[in-house]
Amino acid sequence: MTNDLHTPVMLEEVTTYLAPAAGKRYIDATLGYAGHTLALLSAGAEVVGIDRDADMLEIATARIADAGFAGVFTPVRGAFSEVLAGDRLGSDYDGVLFDLGVSSYQLDTPERGFSFRTDAPLDMRMDTSLVVTAKDLVNGLGRKELYELFQTLGEDAHAKRIADAICRERRIRPILTTTDLARLVERVAPRTGRIHPATKIFQALRMAVNSERDELKAALPSALSRLAVKGTLAVVSFHSLEDEIVKHFLTEKNEMGICEIVTPSPLTPSTDEISDNKRSRSAKLRVGRKLA
Ligand SMILES: C[S@@+](CC[C@H](N)C(=O)[O-])C[C@H]1O[C@@H](n2cnc3c(N)ncnc32)[C@H](O)[C@@H]1O
Repeated sequence: MTNDLHTPVMLEEVTTYLAPAAGKRYIDATLGYAGHTLALLSAGAEVVGIDRDADMLEIATARIADAGFAGVFTPVRGAFSEVLAGDRLGSDYDGVLFDLGVSSYQLDTPERGFSFRTDAPLDMRMDTSLVVTAKDLVNGLGRKELYELFQTLGEDAHAKRIADAICRERRIRPILTTTDLARLVERVAPRTGRIHPATKIFQALRMAVNSERDELKAALPSALSRLAVKGTLAVVSFHSLEDEIVKHFLTEKNEMGICEIVTPSPLTPSTDEISDNKRSRSAKLRVGRKLA
């Protein structure tokens, strides 16, 4: 299911493990452009789709209605940690899916400020009602905090040099746009290979602005509690720190006898998928099955 706005990652693997069929019910905690959800709906299942981005939720809901599935789909706006812990969803689902990060649509919408490829205000909020933007972090964090952010979430070898350069630059003028930041990074961190040197810095800022690791840590126990016995938890992550959170969670629940680990090592996309969809290159899929 390839399309212009977002290509679902590891779709075949995800649907194989979730095994959708008529009468089954799923939560897609990261609805996005509904690529995975449409595959579940097409197999006859019902889906609750969560997204904290109001634009994504609207676009996906319209796409699902166009495909004729409005009657078996429920959109819910909000952070998945809050929605999964709240009282709107009920229980005994056959599967919960997380496909973390942002969609290509969000990355390619310049005014959202996720991408260094187009000039826009440094924003990066998935939920535009959040107060703190990437601009606030870049101009407000101390040198040490920036360095730690770029080193931990960005795993960037030039973290210190980039943090220093930001602090020097903002003494002269604030860093306001994606291009301001990308050019600054390019000046101090030379390009090696085809990946733009600002890639990891932008990823680190996005993860911090949206508290992505905390969201995942908080949501996994609630997701498991929404499952029926034998229900499946599937998580596609794109960052080693997120994969660590999922691995740790599944191991802990396995030791408690609550969850079977279906994928002892994470699955990764095929070489064909990576060459068709570059965005899939760092994906890792882990799957657990609820035991009790
Ligand atoms: C990678 S996209 C999902 C793409 C989708 N699986 C598809 O195939 O079209 C991730 C989506 O999850 C949303 N998202 C990320 N973190 C979230 C969170 N903590 N709560 C709710 N939505 C979140 C993003 O706004 C984005 O639309």
